[in-house]
Amino acid sequence: MRHIITATIATAIAFTGNTFAQDSIQQEELISKGKIVRPVMQDEMVNALNHQFKIEMDSAYLYLGISTYFAEQGLDGFAHWLTLHAKEELEHAMKVYNFLLDRGVDIVLPILEAPKTSWESPIDAFEQALSHEIYVSQTVKNEYALSQSLQEYDAGEFILWFIREQVEEENLFESVLNRLYFIQDAHPAALMFLDIEMGKREL
Ligand SMILES: [Fe+2]
Repeated sequence: MRHIITATIATAIAFTGNTFAQDSIQQEELISKGKIVRPVMQDEMVNALNHQFKIEMDSAYLYLGISTYFAEQGLDGFAHWLTLHAKEELEHAMKVYNFLLDRGVDIVLPILEAPKTSWESPIDAFEQALSHEIYVSQTVKNEYALSQSLQEYDAGEFILWFIREQVEEENLFESVLNRLYFIQDAHPAALMFLDIEMGKREL
């Protein structure tokens, strides 16, 4: 009943939900034969969670792209910080992946767009990062609202963790961006000092 779907048919599923509908038919057949089956998660909820999986993967890729930019600028502390953050985003993606597996529903493995690796400035890169986090926050809030309207309460409970996490994420990126705004007209030594600070991140 559970499928992991590659991106070649992902688009079709996103628009038609055909594979998920097929699951429902298979379930109905099993029920008609007197078999016991778990309730199926509704297609809209499955699609939203798959969308979140893609967003978390996109986040990891975005931060790897920004990390590459900093590494090429010789700002290894920033590069280190962003690489660690890319790993954290992969962990988020795996949380969604494992939840979908546990619920026995289809997982769509999406094609990811290549991220940018060049930016006008450190401020430009971190502005993009903070904007992205604000977008992720709104996405998970919409997902939670959907879970409540569909009465998919286990999905709702799962998504709450991400809503709380996003408060931390926005705060983290905003604090770096504020420091960059603060030093933007200062001596480059200030940027080097911040780079050393960024390089101390452990998790
Ligand atoms: Fe995330």
